[in-house]
Amino acid sequence: MARGSILSRLVAFAAVTVLAQTACDWPWQHDMADQPSRPASAGPRSPAAGAVATGGSLPIRPEVAERQLRADIAARSAVEAGSKLYAAYCAPCHGPHGRGDGPVAREFAPPMGDLTGDLTAPDVQRHADGWFYAVITNGTEHMPRSAHELDPSERWQIVRFVRTLGTYRQ
Ligand code: HEC
Repeated sequence: MARGSILSRLVAFAAVTVLAQTACDWPWQHDMADQPSRPASAGPRSPAAGAVATGGSLPIRPEVAERQLRADIAARSAVEAGSKLYAAYCAPCHGPHGRGDGPVAREFAPPMGDLTGDLTAPDVQRHADGWFYAVITNGTEHMPRSAHELDPSERWQIVRFVRTLGTYRQ
C-alpha cells in the first residue's frame, strides 16, 4: 500500500473521531458538569401534588390532612400511651378531660378566645383524625407546635386519646 494512502486514511480516521466526539453524546462525554441540574439557589423541590409530609416539622394543611391521613397504629394500644403524652403535653392547657380548663388556660384572657380549647366539643370532634394530627403538628395561635417535640407515632397516639375525650361525660 502506498504511503500517501495510509496517511490520508489516518487523517480521515482522526477527522471522523474528532467529529464524533464533538458532535455526538458519546458515553465518555457524560461529565457531571454537563448534566441538566438545578442551581444551588433554587431551594428544595416542592412535594408532589397531594403529598402530605407527615414525618417532617413543616406545617401541614389541616383540611388536606383531614382528607388524606389515616393513623397507622392500632387504636387500643395507642390510647394508653396517648393519655400519658396528653397529660404531659396538652392537659396543662386543655385540662385532664379536654374541657379547656387546665391551669395554664386560666392565664389566657379571655380564656382561649373564641375557640374555647374544649376538645370534647362536637364542633371539634366532628373532624377526622388527620385534622387533629395537623393541628398538633402545626400548633395554633396560642398553642405551641409539637412538630419538634413529638415524633409522628407519638402524635398519632395523642390523636387516638383525644378521640376518646368526645365521649367523656362527667
Ligand atoms: C399553651 C397551651 C396549649 C397547649 C400546651 C396545647 N394547646 Fe391545644 N390549643 C390551645 C388553645 C389556646 C387553642 C385554641 C386556639 C387558639 O386560641 O390558638 C388550642 C386549640 C387546639 C385544638 C383545636 C381546637 C379548636 O377549637 O379549634 C386542638 C385539636 C388542640 N388544641 C389539641 C392539643 C393537643 C392534642 C395538645 C397536646 C399535644 C395541645 N393542644 C396543647 C392551647 C394549648
